Order: sequence, then structure tokens, then C-alpha cells
Amino acid sequence: FQPKLLAGRRVLITAGPTFEAIDPVRGITNLSSGKMGFAIARAAQEAGAQVTLVAGPVHLPTPRHVARIDVQSARQMFDAVLPAADGHDVFIATAAVADWRPAAENAHKIKKDGKKVAPTFELTENPDILASVAALPAGRRPWCVGFAAESQDLARHAREKLVRKNVPLVVGNLGPATFGQDHNTLLLVDARGERELPHGPKLTLARRLVQEIAERLAATPGP
Ligand code: C5P
Repeated sequence: FQPKLLAGRRVLITAGPTFEAIDPVRGITNLSSGKMGFAIARAAQEAGAQVTLVAGPVHLPTPRHVARIDVQSARQMFDAVLPAADGHDVFIATAAVADWRPAAENAHKIKKDGKKVAPTFELTENPDILASVAALPAGRRPWCVGFAAESQDLARHAREKLVRKNVPLVVGNLGPATFGQDHNTLLLVDARGERELPHGPKLTLARRLVQEIAERLAATPGP
């Protein structure tokens, strides 16, 4: 009998883009489909974990036996994740969180003023969800996994994120052009070095990644 790799573990995952409202009908978002995060949620559940999935606006069905919380903005994602983090063993941040949001949300639709003057927006920085979870005190902090999507120098940027966000594992999207695709190539970067998970379907990669996470978790001393 082979016990499941994540039996008894609680796994929290963020997925998809965030949507930062400008007015009631417009906003800032990005092209993240949520497919990688949803695939990881499914793979973790299959591996025996109790999974909570905090999802931005995506068009994907909830994987079986996964508890899903839908949010829109980065701040809503932060508010859903931070109180939940303490109760989870692993946090996997796949969401493409908007770095900035409009400083003020207009209560009414912005209208053209007839003078052909385009409106301007001030932006303000969103909270960094992953860094905030990684900064929780030991014992209340889940084992954290970050993602990196970069257009160049992926390994260097991933390693820099590992240090800056203080997380034990960063997973880079080697692509090509992963947003919305069903396939990807991943680069795992941690203190031991780098490891590539070869090009394949996101669900296959998610299952391999879950194995890699379970191995590292098993080797980590408890609180
Ligand atoms: O800083 P950067 O956006 O490049 O880092 C990407 C990683 O940090 C991803 O794991 C992403 O989910 C997470 N992140 C976050 N909150 C933010 C920005 C990024 O959790 N505000």
C-alpha cells in the first residue's frame, strides 16, 4: 500500500488574474487563464490533500472536492488568503496578481467630456500576498511556493524572487507563451539548484510539481 503523497496536508492555492476596478464597468487585468493553478489544485487533491483554491475571475470549473473562494481584486485575494494561511501546510501562489490598482475607484462610469481630453489615473501598489504569507511567524507559516513569469533571464529572476520573498521554492514558466495555453515547461529554482520539468500538459506538470513539493515538505522539519 502506497500512502498518498499529500495525505493529511492542507494546501492553499491562488490562481488566475486579479481585476482592479477603474469604474463600475472598466478595470485593469491580465491574460492569466488560471489553468496552471487549477491543475495544481486538482493534482494536490488527487495526492490526498485538503485543497482551498482562491481564484480571481476565470472561466474554469472547480476541480472535484476542492473548496473554492472567488475574488476579483488583489486586496480581496489578500483578505481571503491571509486569515486562511495559518491553517494550511502549503501555500502555492500561481495567481498573476496586479501589481498596481487605480488609487481611486469611480462610483460612476467615466464619461467622455466632449473636449477630447483623456482621463488620467493615479495608481497605487497592491499588497504582495506571497511575501506577506512568507513573513508570517514560524509555526503559523505554510511552506511557500512562488511562481515567476518573465520575458527574459528567468532563472536569475526566479532566484532573486526566492531571496526577496523569502520562499523555499520558486517555479518559473519557461513557456513558450503560457497564458491561456494547455502546455508549459517549468523551471524549479531552490537552494539546491535548478531543475526543469519538460514541456507537457499543465496537468502532467502539476502532478510532477506536487511530487516535488511533497518530497521537499517531507524533508522539512515540522514547527
Ligand atoms: O513580484 P512578482 O509578481 O514577480 O512575483 C510573482 C509571485 O508572487 C507569484 O507567485 C505571485 O502569485 C506572487 N504575488 C503575490 N502578490 C502580489 C504579486 C505577486 O502573491 N501582489
